[in-house]
Amino acid sequence: MKTLIAAIVLSTYALGAMAQAGAPAAYQPCAACHGAVGQGDPAQNAPALAGQDAPYLERQLANFRSGLRGADPADTAGAQMRAMTATLEPAAAPQVAAWLAAQPAPQPAPAQGTDLRNGESIYHGRCGACHGGAGEGNPGLNSPRLNTLDAAYLKRQFANFLQGVRGSHPDDTYGRQMKMMAATLPGEKDLDDVIAFIHAQAQQD
Ligand code: HEC
Ligand code: HEC
Repeated sequence: MKTLIAAIVLSTYALGAMAQAGAPAAYQPCAACHGAVGQGDPAQNAPALAGQDAPYLERQLANFRSGLRGADPADTAGAQMRAMTATLEPAAAPQVAAWLAAQPAPQPAPAQGTDLRNGESIYHGRCGACHGGAGEGNPGLNSPRLNTLDAAYLKRQFANFLQGVRGSHPDDTYGRQMKMMAATLPGEKDLDDVIAFIHAQAQQD
């Protein structure tokens, strides 16, 4: 029994070490917030990056760097990330993004007490045409994957778009598209239902 436990502990450790070893050196400063394999850390407001479309990740890094995102005085979490772009050479961004895109996608559990049917009908009516039927994203429409992202992050981004904290800069072409869409969602309860529906899809992947 002891040997078995030791073997399991060892192999878990080895797996962890392997995943770490696979990370590009340029990702090291990011792991403290976004996790060893980009799984995210809601306690630090840091979203999952694993399984996200690489060009979207690169665009967000460029947006934080230039101030298209994260420069609004009301955007505390965005300002934190904006400061972190100084730790990444722009030339290393494509490699980091490609590695993150290839990591296993997190599958957040849907919140209890939500109305999945309401979420489904709103999502399919107003979001799915761009973000995909299961929230898997649509790179052809520049629309990121949503079903890997934790509920608090999704809600904060939604509020940011709605209030113009994100997606207001004239050069932020794709953020502006999403800002217009944020206005189409009626209320907080509906957003909770939509998020639960998105997470329920991830569970079925
Ligand atoms: C101090 C913690 C911290 C560190 C270190 C950090 N980030 Fe972040 N990152 C955040 C937070 C917080 C957000 C969410 C910002 C928001 O809510 O708008 C974020 C957001 C992002 C996003 C946007 C994701 C999306 O779905 O739009 C990307 C991409 C990103 N970080 C990449 C990186 C990379 C690459 C590094 C390393 C060079 C890094 N981050 C280092 C805290 C951090
Ligand atoms: C017309 C296409 C379109 C529709 C419809 C749309 N979105 Fe988006 N959405 C986008 C694009 C494009 C982006 C990326 C913006 C950027 O690059 O900054 C985005 C980004 C987001 C983000 C930020 C994700 C992240 O990682 O930070 C969230 C959350 C989001 N959308 C939720 C929704 C929800 C919920 C709906 C339905 C009410 C919706 N979207 C409808 C195009 C759309």
